[in-house]
Amino acid sequence: MLNIHPLTGTIGAEVSGVDLTAQLDQTLAGELRAALARHQVLFFEQQFLSIDAQKRLTQAFGPLMQLPYVSPMVGKPEVIRVLKEADEEGGVFGGEWHQDFSFLEHPPAGAVLSALDVPTHGGDTLWINQHAAWENLAPGLQDQLRGRDAMHVGKPYGVKWAPPVAERSGASIQMSRGDPTADVEQRHPAVIRHPVTGCEGMFLNPQYVVRLDGMSETESEPVLANIQRHAMQPEFCCRYRWRAGAVAIWDNLFTQHYAVNDYAGSRREMYRTAFSGPAPRTLAV
Ligand code: SIN
Repeated sequence: MLNIHPLTGTIGAEVSGVDLTAQLDQTLAGELRAALARHQVLFFEQQFLSIDAQKRLTQAFGPLMQLPYVSPMVGKPEVIRVLKEADEEGGVFGGEWHQDFSFLEHPPAGAVLSALDVPTHGGDTLWINQHAAWENLAPGLQDQLRGRDAMHVGKPYGVKWAPPVAERSGASIQMSRGDPTADVEQRHPAVIRHPVTGCEGMFLNPQYVVRLDGMSETESEPVLANIQRHAMQPEFCCRYRWRAGAVAIWDNLFTQHYAVNDYAGSRREMYRTAFSGPAPRTLAV
């Protein structure tokens, strides 16, 4: 039987009583989707998913997605191996607050990450509940966002905002960079409504959003920084300590996440898949 224990007062739940390596029946899949809508991130221990099991699990939430710019595993176009070897220096994949590929017209609705090899300490991942952050945002800032679009660009993959070499993730993750089309702005509503819960949340993140519609980058910067500072408050966050065999599933439109880069000298290896869902435009408030 499925047991769901909230991890914090606002976001995340630990789920037990389920074997994710087995075929999920429709009832169980529906329960997991409902739990994800309610808690935004679900965590499962001791699953040790094979790649086929991970793809099957991902499809219980939506069609598998193939992502641009990041090289997938050979022969497995929907699977990214998030690997940092012990001797690799520099940044980590996902080491800034972000929503995956929010600069696409159809960003992933969510993702599944499973842990193969994790450091004895460090390498945690954090998530923000963008609904709780929005509900508690100052009314003046809410007024600035409601009904407005935000402009997203694929900064790490483009030219204009390319990160310094020292901050880039290491050689174990191959990315194509320097694509000027990644710098082209993609507009999305700044506030969206969850299709299941009806709750509103901010679709904004510092990695990909460069400005608010009707404002320059310079004018937007302090407003966006203020909103992000608010969203990062511990009251809206959860932090997950990985163990080998663990699995996380998250809602990519109503959360941000951040991979902590604090495990130099240790190896960390995960499999990552993504599923598609409604475009943010169709969820505009
Ligand atoms: C990511 O998907 O952004 C990486 C998350 C992680 O490795 O913890």
